[in-house]
Amino acid sequence: MCGIIGYVGKNEAAPILLEGLRRLEYRGYDSAGLAVLDGGIIQRRRRVGRIENLYELLSVEPVHGSTGISHTRWATHGAVTEENAHPHLDASESLALVHNGVLENYRELRTELSRAGINFRSQTDTEVLACLIGLEIQKNGPITPESFRLAVERSLRRVKGTFGIAVIHCKLPGFLIGARRGSPLVLGIGSGEHFLASDVTAIVGHTREVVYFKDNEIAEITAEGFEIFSLTGSTGGSVEIHSVDFDAEAVELGPYPHFMLKEIYEQPTSLRETMRGRLSHEEASAKLGGLNMSNAELRAIERIVLCGCGTAFHAALVGEYILETLAQIPTECEYASELRYRNLPLPKDTLVFAISQSGETADTLAALRECKRKGHRALGICNNVGSTIARESDGGVYMHAGPEIGVAATKSFTSQILVLSLIALLMGRMRNLSHSQGLEILSEIEALPEKVELVLENSDYISAVAKKFARAPYFLFFGRQFNYPIALEGALKLKEISYIPASGHPSAELKHGIIALIKENIPSVIIAPEDSVFEKNLNTIEEIKARNGTVIAVTTEGCDRLNGIADEIFFVPPAPEYLMPILTVIPLQLFAYHIAVEIGCDVDKPRNLAKSVTVE
Ligand code: AGP
Repeated sequence: MCGIIGYVGKNEAAPILLEGLRRLEYRGYDSAGLAVLDGGIIQRRRRVGRIENLYELLSVEPVHGSTGISHTRWATHGAVTEENAHPHLDASESLALVHNGVLENYRELRTELSRAGINFRSQTDTEVLACLIGLEIQKNGPITPESFRLAVERSLRRVKGTFGIAVIHCKLPGFLIGARRGSPLVLGIGSGEHFLASDVTAIVGHTREVVYFKDNEIAEITAEGFEIFSLTGSTGGSVEIHSVDFDAEAVELGPYPHFMLKEIYEQPTSLRETMRGRLSHEEASAKLGGLNMSNAELRAIERIVLCGCGTAFHAALVGEYILETLAQIPTECEYASELRYRNLPLPKDTLVFAISQSGETADTLAALRECKRKGHRALGICNNVGSTIARESDGGVYMHAGPEIGVAATKSFTSQILVLSLIALLMGRMRNLSHSQGLEILSEIEALPEKVELVLENSDYISAVAKKFARAPYFLFFGRQFNYPIALEGALKLKEISYIPASGHPSAELKHGIIALIKENIPSVIIAPEDSVFEKNLNTIEEIKARNGTVIAVTTEGCDRLNGIADEIFFVPPAPEYLMPILTVIPLQLFAYHIAVEIGCDVDKPRNLAKSVTVE
């Protein structure tokens, strides 16, 4: 949800800000803008649409200066117009501000400021904050770095809601303020220069030394240094400097046309990274030190709750089957957005997992906080190191899948399932799994990356089938047991990047209503590997075929029982039922990708979507 980047140093700010925006574009791409200080003047440029439009504007109307801020917007308050694009100025046009988040009490503040004579030029909550800071400055005499920071602090204390902001003042060249509450913000430490960004991907080409802002922190930043203060008046702890564990290349496209395709192809590697150092043959189990729980504490767990949103929720659904099968622990899944407001009765020995690639999803974070508030131990399964969920949870497991830029989640999904499998193995070995069963599970886990490579080799065939069906008006996806969530995920992938309506269902639900939709031009994608429910899925396929429906099946290599029945078949290598979803989802990721490309959709920047949803 919106990307922000700020720069203060010796170099021209605009190229650095633009490059950062390009890397952050996956967070929002309705409009973009920047403001750079030049000789006591704020030069602002804004454009509706993609970052390219801002590049074009700057080629005609360049800006110069070495202090600046910029923003790529995913609209929350106010339509997608140039007036609503960031940065916003205060009434006296002395300061510029970019903001990621939502200010919940902006209407009351706007009314108050309007009464005080301020005319607003946009419909945004952000302009209200800019004007509030401007008024605070006016009340307090000549501007100094400290008085500026104090004015921002006083204004932020008046707002309710979430923010990650960067602010500059025309009279303070070489000075930048950053602050956060609820929305991510990171400070990049360079040599004679500093950066602010909502995501490290924006600045990793310049520095890998970063400080993740904690909630309610505000910083004064210059080219030579920075100082962090607390917005709540508490004396802050020591500043922790982290080293980012990937380089600029990891966030480049390389030879791929889209990040989504790159990330689909990265799955053998990302899975290897997820399992690296975590498989113990000696104990026939998984080693997950980050859980921060003793064996006795893990053994005492009676119930598990898995929560997340979108694709992460689908991974949770797969995890439910895996945990119940391997560890025999009653497990339930909740959409994080529901869990945060639900009064779910839970026994005291409940363990909660918040699953989130970004680690910044507002609903998932709120669910984590609510569970912690109720006294449950709440752990995170995140990809972004240092993200808010990772920091606020009692412990957890990093996915280590590498940066995921494509808005459609792919490699994070398979890594999430793998992490849940490792947790199930660890907890299962404390309960019902023997040493030899543990070893067998380990060897199946180790075999996964090569099997994924084999699935990826079928890409050309999957692409040809995708082209054939790309103009279908609607797709149905069916799966049963472990593969029911894969039906949901296959449908979500297709919807979000191709805008073709699609829905996922448990196979057996066909006859309870969905069968009414079956006809020749509505393809049914059925995930039917040779497993304990294969015969049941076969019945579903027969029922569809009997009504002239078209069937695209995903099944196990070597299975010939769908030949002559299904219209098209995607094969995946054999694997145990509990790991099969990691394989069966891959043809569906490729299928969705190739359909979207065939019909000319912008795969990496789908309509209306943003990569991480940091607003409610
Ligand atoms: C997946 O393709 C979506 N873009 C979306 O559903 C995503 O999985 C969801 O917003 C959760 O994001 P998170 O994993 O970063 O919390």
